[in-house]
Amino acid sequence: MQWGRPMSNVAAIFDSMSYGPAPEADGAARAWLAAHGSRFGLYINGSWAAPLGGDVHFDCRNPASGEKLATLAVAGPDDVDAAVDAAAAAAAGWGKRRGHERARVLYALARLVQKSSRVLAVLASLDNGKPIRETRDIDIPLVARHFYYHAGCAQLLPQEAPDMVPLGVVAQVIPWNFPLLMLAWKIAPALACGNTVILKPAEYTSLTALYFAELCQEAGVPPGVVNIITGPGETGQALVDHPGVAKIAFTGSTEVGRIIRARTSGTGKKLSLELGGKSPFIVMEDADLDGAVEGLVDAIWFNQGQVCCAGSRLLVEESVAQRLLAKIKARLEKFRLGDPLDKCIDMGAIVDPIQRSRIDQLVCQAEAEGGQVWRAPVARPETGCYYPPTLITHLGTANTAWREEIFGPVLAVMTFRSVTEAMQLANNTRFGLSATIWSENINRALELANAVKAGVVWVNCTNQFDACCPFGGYKESGFGREGGLLGLDEYLKPKREWLNEGAVRLSAPSRVADASHGDDLIDRTAKNYIGGKQTRPDGGDTRLVTTHDGRPAGRVSLGSRKDIRDAVEAAFNAESWAKASAHLRAQILFYVAENLSIRAQEFKHRLVDLTGVSAAAAGREVAASIERLFGYAAWADKFEGAVHRPPARALALSVHEPLGIVGVVCPDPLPLLGFISLVAPVIAVGNRCVAVPSERYPLLATDLYQVLDTSDLPAGVVNIVTGASELLTKTLAEHDQIDGLWYHGSAQGSRQVEAASIGNLKRTWVNDGRARDWWSPVTGEGRAFLSAASQVKTIWLPYGD
Ligand code: NAI
Repeated sequence: MQWGRPMSNVAAIFDSMSYGPAPEADGAARAWLAAHGSRFGLYINGSWAAPLGGDVHFDCRNPASGEKLATLAVAGPDDVDAAVDAAAAAAAGWGKRRGHERARVLYALARLVQKSSRVLAVLASLDNGKPIRETRDIDIPLVARHFYYHAGCAQLLPQEAPDMVPLGVVAQVIPWNFPLLMLAWKIAPALACGNTVILKPAEYTSLTALYFAELCQEAGVPPGVVNIITGPGETGQALVDHPGVAKIAFTGSTEVGRIIRARTSGTGKKLSLELGGKSPFIVMEDADLDGAVEGLVDAIWFNQGQVCCAGSRLLVEESVAQRLLAKIKARLEKFRLGDPLDKCIDMGAIVDPIQRSRIDQLVCQAEAEGGQVWRAPVARPETGCYYPPTLITHLGTANTAWREEIFGPVLAVMTFRSVTEAMQLANNTRFGLSATIWSENINRALELANAVKAGVVWVNCTNQFDACCPFGGYKESGFGREGGLLGLDEYLKPKREWLNEGAVRLSAPSRVADASHGDDLIDRTAKNYIGGKQTRPDGGDTRLVTTHDGRPAGRVSLGSRKDIRDAVEAAFNAESWAKASAHLRAQILFYVAENLSIRAQEFKHRLVDLTGVSAAAAGREVAASIERLFGYAAWADKFEGAVHRPPARALALSVHEPLGIVGVVCPDPLPLLGFISLVAPVIAVGNRCVAVPSERYPLLATDLYQVLDTSDLPAGVVNIVTGASELLTKTLAEHDQIDGLWYHGSAQGSRQVEAASIGNLKRTWVNDGRARDWWSPVTGEGRAFLSAASQVKTIWLPYGD
């Protein structure tokens, strides 16, 4: 600008200011492609291999132009076998390395990612279509940070978790929206914990993973420790199905997550799923509206809206809705769509024409259902795969745009009038990945942060991530956490968890007499315990329970599906338990222990009578049960979260929250101690429970009714339904209002539980037919139980102006 020019010119320049193109140079990335002849094999056992099934390849294209970038190999079943063999062969050596040795390798990877950051950022933009501004400033720095953080984890693990060991061979399947970041989220913790991995990138975006394979060679990752195989969904499925795999970590669509849950049921493979979302972005009337608009830009137009935790549902308080919408539209009208390598654009290209037509189809459907669609009137390149930023208003809660993950730059808008309504609308979804709350009133913001059912909550910020902060979903957004020390749990197991086969009788042959085998001498019939009341079974059926030597001991209800449904309803109505203070839950568990202690003799005799153990053994089981109740009373107010300090001006709080309603199917051995060891941790963290006691010895649980009644436990927190375990378990597994299901029974039963849980993707915890040592405070009690009964919510709180 020249001195002395009139002010009006300055204003005019500001008004018309247009950007010239500012493309990032892509020479290095293209030279790397050329060095490979733009053709790649599979990275197995530390070197490149052609696919064993012959010349099976697919094209990789630049979505911004349609240009072919490379030819990639399709890994078939034989290649999957070879990769799993290589990973298995490398597992023992890598798992036994000292923590420090693994830390050095992870540190080398972090450094190499930093040194290659420019070429990686360009490659990611070429491959995926996302703006270079994002790959350069967000994706790649976070990748490096992840490897640094996990280098530290590898260093500390031997001291901090001496009783934990790696799982072995881990299969990792990732999506296309953050190709290298998802790779880092998967590979870094797995290697830190001593596992070996086979990673399958998404078919649209494999290039950065292949580049990373070369960084592994350079960093001294031993052959077989990291294997990268490319291909479509079928390759992923062959990997997931492989019997040599001990754990599967998947990020992608909820649909495929369900398939993987079903296909791995009963295999004992550990599973973590990070799936879709339809996350609320709540703007209160006291919010800084300009700040909220910028937040929205990051929430739903970041990465063209192809983000699992995108704030795709705007909930705005009615009084400011018009103002906010006007500001959003004004902002979007100035949006720049264009070449992803241009540093000045706001939005790049959609990953593939298939995805773009999927987005368009969902938007058209929402319009046909009554939604009002506004597409920002912005210029688009003539070729390439672009979609304009879009708003949809005039929506009802049944509209497709409000319910379904669109996975594109499309914001669905609705208004609310009170905090309660905002909370109800926010939670009215089958997903639960994230939520954003915009308000200058910290009390209202934190009230909502507490109430919203989502694994990550951002207050006055959005889409923040860091390696030290756990990330993952509630409900159908999946289970398991990535990031933080908590994320390491996904890649470790206790040195000792299960008893050797046959050490404890798993499932006693039922000597329970048939219902038709009535015995008039028995007039005491234990009913079900539902909503704090003893209730007759719906079908009116009972059956005789005999003592260890075949004498009649009493009758119990033969519970049915309807009884389970009633118990779930009673548990649903006891929601206040989740909000009760941890101190109150502790007090009540102490009180249950005290009341059981008063009736110890009675329980001891019952155990002797039913199971045939000696009086001394029965006395020990009652004493251990009382001690276990004390244990969980103690834990109730000590199983706390953590405070993280990510490298941003923010604190992130990880808090444990209950799952909701948890079904518990109890084992036969040690029927009192087993029952209490499972039910006590479930309720200690604030869940309500529907318990199915040991099928063989149900009277131990039904005798507890009076103990529970006299211990101030609110009605509906513990519900007990007796009967045929298999039938009741199936009903629990299929029930969509049950949030978690713990099963201790046969291997076949475990498989059924996992397979039947896919409806609402409830968290399952099964024993695969193995037995636990309930006597041991190490394997029969503690953090593992409390963790399985809870889920972590991470709340981000920025500070400063
Ligand atoms: P997808 O879930 O089909 O693919 C994700 C990964 O899983 C890819 O690597 C794919 O090859 C693999 N895969 C597919 N089928 C498999 C199977 N049966 N067994 C094992 N692996 C399998 O997602 P896609 O088709 O790429 O996108 C479809 C929709 O899914 C998107 O429009 C979006 O709504 C959602 N999505 C959600 C993501 C998230 O992070 N929440 C990420 C990607 C997609």
